[in-house]
Amino acid sequence: METNVQKKRENKKSLRVKVISLGNAEVGKSCIIKRYCEKRFVSKYLATIGIDYGVTKVQVRDREIKVNIFDMAGHPFFYEVRNEFYKDSQGVILVYDVGQKESFDALDSWLTEMKQEMGSQANMESIIFVVCANKVDLTKRRVVDESEGRLWAESRGFHYFETSAQSGEGINEMFQAFFSSITDMCENGGRRPVSEVNVGFTREQADTIRRIRNSKDSWDMLGVKPGATREEVNKAYRKLAVLLHPDKCVAPGSEDAFKAVVNARTSLLKNIK
Ligand code: GTP
Ligand code: MG
Repeated sequence: METNVQKKRENKKSLRVKVISLGNAEVGKSCIIKRYCEKRFVSKYLATIGIDYGVTKVQVRDREIKVNIFDMAGHPFFYEVRNEFYKDSQGVILVYDVGQKESFDALDSWLTEMKQEMGSQANMESIIFVVCANKVDLTKRRVVDESEGRLWAESRGFHYFETSAQSGEGINEMFQAFFSSITDMCENGGRRPVSEVNVGFTREQADTIRRIRNSKDSWDMLGVKPGATREEVNKAYRKLAVLLHPDKCVAPGSEDAFKAVVNARTSLLKNIK
């Protein structure tokens, strides 16, 4: 007969979790899951109708984890089916296609939809997010580069992986990190451990790099009005240089942003008397 001590030990060892996949239609959510669970790739597109559900068992350290995977349909048409399934998730796989900018830009709206549907339950600190920059095998059509994706993910405390469901690149690594973080969180009383969110750069640095990438000209990049004086340009430059200097900033893309700021200042000063 099992003793209470044995039962307690068993409970500590086994864990049941719920994870969901999110992202625009056709970015490869189902293929990523299939690659991991069934070790195969299907090149024909079979849109998920509403939700696909599956269960898998994984081992993390001394624990057996029973994972319930809810693979969501990305098409807006299935919103009414999807919205039921956000609640009680411990992990979210957010996927975009590196060859499709709209799917990357849509990540924010997927988070918004999720928060909305979870309502008062929306405690994003108790959920592990992993971002998959998928279809990296299709190098020629790539339009979203690694530093842009990594910055978006890591500035939110999310994991970032470059994946290909087609070749298998990054898939096992991604799932291992994902399940191990979920286990850490469960062992940490249901909150993300501090190391998960401490990424070594600030939200201000991340937002500034993003703003610089999206700026339309040198004035805009430095954050000054067209026609600004030398002093105004230099003042704005110094502020950005302190924030983004490669010796001080480790955020992905900071080096390119810093160079862009140096070039913007040089070209503006050339034309200001
Ligand atoms: P919905 O279920 O409609 O939301 O789409 P989904 O995100 O589940 O996409 P799915 O996994 O069905 O894949 C869409 C298409 O992209 C299919 O034709 C896949 O074969 C293809 N695909 C998925 N991942 C990759 C990849 O890593 N590389 C390449 N080359 N093709 C991929
Ligand atoms: Mg699918």
